[in-house]
Amino acid sequence: MADVVRPETMERIVTKELADAFITEQVKAIQEQVGNKKVLLALSGGVDSSVVAALLIKAIGKQLVCVHVNHGLMRKGESEQVIEVFGKQLDANLIYIDATDRFLDKLQGVADPERKRKIIGGEFIEVFAEEAEKLEGVEFLAQGTIYPDILESKDGVKAHHNVGGLPNGMTFQLVEPVMLLYKDEVRVVGEALGLPHEMVYRQPFPGPGLGVRCLGAITRDRLHALREADAILREEFDKNGLAGKVWQYFVAVPDFKSVGVRDGKRYEGWPAIIRAVNTTDAMTATIEEIPYALLHHITNRITHEVEGINRVVMDLTPKPIGTIEWE
Ligand code: XMP
Repeated sequence: MADVVRPETMERIVTKELADAFITEQVKAIQEQVGNKKVLLALSGGVDSSVVAALLIKAIGKQLVCVHVNHGLMRKGESEQVIEVFGKQLDANLIYIDATDRFLDKLQGVADPERKRKIIGGEFIEVFAEEAEKLEGVEFLAQGTIYPDILESKDGVKAHHNVGGLPNGMTFQLVEPVMLLYKDEVRVVGEALGLPHEMVYRQPFPGPGLGVRCLGAITRDRLHALREADAILREEFDKNGLAGKVWQYFVAVPDFKSVGVRDGKRYEGWPAIIRAVNTTDAMTATIEEIPYALLHHITNRITHEVEGINRVVMDLTPKPIGTIEWE
């Protein structure tokens, strides 16, 4: 893979026509590569894996087996959208695994961010491999590798593992139909394939999901509060035209409480921290200015609608010195 090079003559895919031509070419290439064999894909619901899934469904239909592992750290409505779009609308061969309890049980009491990440990554591979073992006749593994992944692994910036590496003994041939594309091109192809706009243009979301935003040791009640507060933030950004203007925005909830007052009584709750940043490459980031009136409205909604939250604060720290995620 390290010697894959995008030809200089390859035109940037910026229109529906160019995307359609790419799709026709890839459908043929996939059919030739795969024949009548089965292909396995870990479908997170992120842009790259979703576009690869849609492309493969077009090329080989039910020969593609999509596995969606819900690790319990998805944002509100995300797994439901995967089931709706791929299971129902595209009639895919979709295996849905709700592994919430497995992940949350393993994470219980674990506060160290790096350990949390390792547990989430390791458990993901285990759940995915268990499913793969149950299937028969799968010879191919599809991955949403894109061109920046290849460039970064060449530069030694990032070890490139989309699935994170499967246990020894499980060998597949790889199907990586968008590996010469940049992210913007993947999006154009996704729309040409008929995927919903909000799925194709969604903001980046880290693999460990809300696990990096539910700070310290994750508890189910605080994770629930975080998911609800984050959903309100996303809804308000959507409604107020900020969704397309701000690169990444989310809520983080730390594991401490402060005193508040609700209905005339003492009300201890967690703070919801809002982060809204703009960046081009995520290496540095600036703070997006959000109108105060909207911040007041969001604060009012979160503190009234979300059980357990009694304050809303805004993080004004650029990267560096703050990273984008809180962890
Ligand atoms: P930081 O926090 O390092 O984040 O400033 C930079 C960008 O990377 C995203 N991020 C991840 N993306 N898997 C991913 O695919 C991960 O494990 C991961 N961790 C952080 C983060 O959301 C931000 O956009």
